[in-house]
Amino acid sequence: MCGIVGYVGHSSGRVNVGHGALDVVLEGLRRLEYRGYDSAGVAVVADGTISSRKKSGKLSNLLAELEEKPLPDSVTGIGHTRWATHGGPTDQNAHPHLSDGGKLALIHNGIIENFAELKLELLEKGTVFASETDTEVAAALLGDIFRNQLNGDASNGGLTKAMQLACQRLEGAFTLLAVHADQPDVVVAARRNSPLVVGLGEGENFLGSDVSGFIDYTRRAVELGQDQIVTITADTVEITDFFGAPAQGKEYHVDWDPASAEKGGYPSFMEKEIHDQPDAVANTLLGRSDLDGKLTLDEMRIDPEHLKKINKIIVLACGTSAYSGQVAKYAIEHWCRIATEVELSHEFRYRDPIVDENTLIVSISQSGETMDTLMAVRYAKEQGAKTLSICNTNGSTIPRESDAVLYTHAGPEIAVASTKAFLAQITAAYLLGLYLAQLRGNKFQGEIKDILADLGKVPAKIQQVLDHVDEIKDLARSMAGAKSVLFLGRHVGFPVAMEGALKLKELAYIHAEGFAAGELKHGPIALIEEGQPVFVVVPSPRGRNSLHAKVVSNIQEVRARGAKTIVIAEEGDEAVKAYAEHVFYIPETPTLLAPLLAAVPLQIFALELATAKGYDVDQPRNLAKSVTVE
Ligand code: G6P
Repeated sequence: MCGIVGYVGHSSGRVNVGHGALDVVLEGLRRLEYRGYDSAGVAVVADGTISSRKKSGKLSNLLAELEEKPLPDSVTGIGHTRWATHGGPTDQNAHPHLSDGGKLALIHNGIIENFAELKLELLEKGTVFASETDTEVAAALLGDIFRNQLNGDASNGGLTKAMQLACQRLEGAFTLLAVHADQPDVVVAARRNSPLVVGLGEGENFLGSDVSGFIDYTRRAVELGQDQIVTITADTVEITDFFGAPAQGKEYHVDWDPASAEKGGYPSFMEKEIHDQPDAVANTLLGRSDLDGKLTLDEMRIDPEHLKKINKIIVLACGTSAYSGQVAKYAIEHWCRIATEVELSHEFRYRDPIVDENTLIVSISQSGETMDTLMAVRYAKEQGAKTLSICNTNGSTIPRESDAVLYTHAGPEIAVASTKAFLAQITAAYLLGLYLAQLRGNKFQGEIKDILADLGKVPAKIQQVLDHVDEIKDLARSMAGAKSVLFLGRHVGFPVAMEGALKLKELAYIHAEGFAAGELKHGPIALIEEGQPVFVVVPSPRGRNSLHAKVVSNIQEVRARGAKTIVIAEEGDEAVKAYAEHVFYIPETPTLLAPLLAAVPLQIFALELATAKGYDVDQPRNLAKSVTVE
């Protein structure tokens, strides 16, 4: 998830009054920085050449670089702010990436799934790569097509034609923007599964990842469809499909103010991030298999032979990340038959844990900087364990210090309470489980493929849940006065219940507890009195071990004692209706994948209830996004 801006104007326009393409692009990047802040870069076309600057870190680093090494005035420019996926957050990996002997500059948001295959092909042709990114492969491919297939012919829309041909070869999710020195008044862009919007001006046109990229200049926007290419000049906007057939975008008027534009029109980053979840899961699944369809990790400094000998996994994490670990435990043990413990990082190192070289430590951290988790990982390393990091922040400390890394591709999470990172962490931990099962031969490749196919259907199912949240929002508002809410779950539903309770504590400052439904009778049931709200995460009735029947009995037990029961159940589960004040249905999915759906209504509930109480959901009191003290 990166931020992208493009601009073409007339030399009689902004350049004349001191606002050239660079100013427009930088202003767009400032507004889009919430989409990524690992690096920033710009390229302008001036005097028949491409001039580019890029710098790792926040946009301010790029601005300092531009102070020192200014760029020439120009009417055409592109800019990028990066959330690293392939390749760490370094200057070399920053966008734009150049090709065609420095005459072409390209920026990218997304993941090119078949980049390894294309890179091999380009290496054989003698292409030299300066970065570790998939983007540079796309830049090289585009440059190669322009130069060798189209003979560098810039007339008659050469760059547009090259983009069409390049996109026909790319797989995955991408928004690409390119400029070429030989076509100085043009920006060409393409999109598949990643966002891109056109801004229509008077004698100038804009491109942005979203409207915040140009909201200071125009309110007229054009939404592009899937697999479309757009070529903008100062006066024209031409849209085609990947094969050159003319296509149409949908024009609309932007009535958001600039601040809500950054939040995609949602009132808070948290709500936006909850709605980002289909993409967070889909992007985490993208590009994870090699040429033979086998799973790979991002960074691997452990001998696979050693991983085969692992006899214990300890998952270390804090907060929401720890609950994702608890969900993953069920899947990893089931698929890989490796004993898996989940421990809070801050407890781990003070209890003399049994760790040796056959232990695999899996740390889970959105930020990659949580001090408790970092210290626990270091401690485990000292004891000889191998360490693997599941992390959302490329190049952060925990993945850097770990022996292997699997990144979640949720994009930056701005709201303090974690939502999309949680679902992406579960997804990544499942990929790890499948990777280990593949490596150790616990599962046939076909079985792994089937599970991956089921995972692939999850993003659309999350969207289905998100499309039907009005009722849970109404319920949340009606419960703004609640003093305490309990959450029950069993099996993978248990950590989901605990996460539901944590969300409510974090956002609405209400006492909330998540219990294993079976534990109820051993104590917590004493808490139930008339009117006590109790959420119950009900497993699929199609699942094994009569779990469903057990949980339905648990609902009856609390209801009989006066509880107001609110049930999350699978579509078609009519049996729960009789025992529930409210039922929220989630689409059918295999039991192990259900947490990716069941967590969503609980997030919405906490968000809406906190909003009804007038609290700041993005920055709840007393909390920090990344806790870098022990
Ligand atoms: C803080 C945040 C939580 C987060 C936890 C772990 O407490 O408020 O939302 O779950 O840290 O953070 P990490 O970055 O390691 O996932």
